[in-house]
Amino acid sequence: MDRLRYQSGFGNEFASEAEAGALPQGQNSPQRSPLGLYTEQFSGTPFTAPRAVNRRTWTYRIRPSVTHKPYEPMQCGLLRSGPFDEIPTSPNQLRWNPLPIPEQPTDFVDGLVTLGGNGDPALQVGVAIHLYAANVSMVDRFFYDADGELLLVPQQGALRLHTELGVLAVEPGEIAVIPRGVKFRVVLDGPSRGYLCENYGLAFRLPELGPIGANGLANARDFLAPEAAYEDREGLFHIVSKFLGKLWQAEIDHSPLDVVAWHGNYTPYKYDLRLFNCINTVSFDHPDPSIYTVLTSPSHTPGTANVDFAIFPPRWMVAEHTFRPPWFHRNLMNEFMGLVFGQYDAKAEGFVPGGASLHNCMAGHGPDAETWERASAAELKPQYLDNTLAFMFETQMVVRPTKFAMETKILQHEYYECWQGLKKHFRAPQR
Ligand SMILES: [Fe+2]
Repeated sequence: MDRLRYQSGFGNEFASEAEAGALPQGQNSPQRSPLGLYTEQFSGTPFTAPRAVNRRTWTYRIRPSVTHKPYEPMQCGLLRSGPFDEIPTSPNQLRWNPLPIPEQPTDFVDGLVTLGGNGDPALQVGVAIHLYAANVSMVDRFFYDADGELLLVPQQGALRLHTELGVLAVEPGEIAVIPRGVKFRVVLDGPSRGYLCENYGLAFRLPELGPIGANGLANARDFLAPEAAYEDREGLFHIVSKFLGKLWQAEIDHSPLDVVAWHGNYTPYKYDLRLFNCINTVSFDHPDPSIYTVLTSPSHTPGTANVDFAIFPPRWMVAEHTFRPPWFHRNLMNEFMGLVFGQYDAKAEGFVPGGASLHNCMAGHGPDAETWERASAAELKPQYLDNTLAFMFETQMVVRPTKFAMETKILQHEYYECWQGLKKHFRAPQR
């Protein structure tokens, strides 16, 4: 595959043209745009959003986006959307094995399966958590999501995301974010699997750093936006739209990825999780896991995320006189976890790459019995946690599993057993 070029920075005012002279200079909407292109503004926030979070991109395209046939409803397969009210929500801790790679030809859209979610796309609040498992590329089919932005976490197989604004190559260990409304198709390198957070709420942004200072965690310059790239293809194509919880399909006689030049700050982007600058204790007691936040979608309540994306990457553990794995805890917030590769430090086994766990509001959880025994007796010399990449979608509202999630064979009914071996050690002092 050829090497792609990117533009660096988070939410920058980028400018890119795939043909020299395609981008108008000094204005956005000339009477006639260069090279016979149509001008179209593409807004991801209200026109009047504060400047720091205002997102829009001016596109210069072969045809405007409106040139398609009417959308018709289509089957949604195992894709679900808020409100997630198919079945009552269990307070139990839940864990799943990986989704098998399909045996029939299945592209990225057909390979989407929803495990759960919260909120409602109609209210622009909440998230849906999907898995994808696919084995064929999208060639003449395109997808866009009007219900939310899409955070992709590949677990197996490299992807090429051909979007309206250019091409992103992502592989396990990296993430990509496709903003609400951006059309794209997914080209596979082989059988592929991963996680997808569909964020109905405010767009992901970098967390505030407070006393950490001006640098650290995910640094803005490491986020990469594509260079303009277009398809000038005619024929019979289909656009699949996710709109208010359902899938719709329309015919179009050309590729909608026909943006020859663009400028603006509403773009897809990718990020290599290996570049995350971990901040953690160099004395005792590890901080709350919010210290690992890569991206956050705030709610309207200060300090409360609609959804945070946090990672647990390879790192040094040096805490003294401290229980080093995550402590036992119960939280208001709701934690969905996945594992890209390796082993997670709170679970000796059962939580496997491609698998997932869900600990909802006030559900007790923490290290399994084996991990607790080992960590309580471990010699506390500096230790490098190698070959591990777990992540968390942490969200304000309870994640309500779908019917599929509770009835599928990949649900681990025996999950609770991993804590049953935690013995009583208490002995009251002799009086
Ligand atoms: Fe937790």
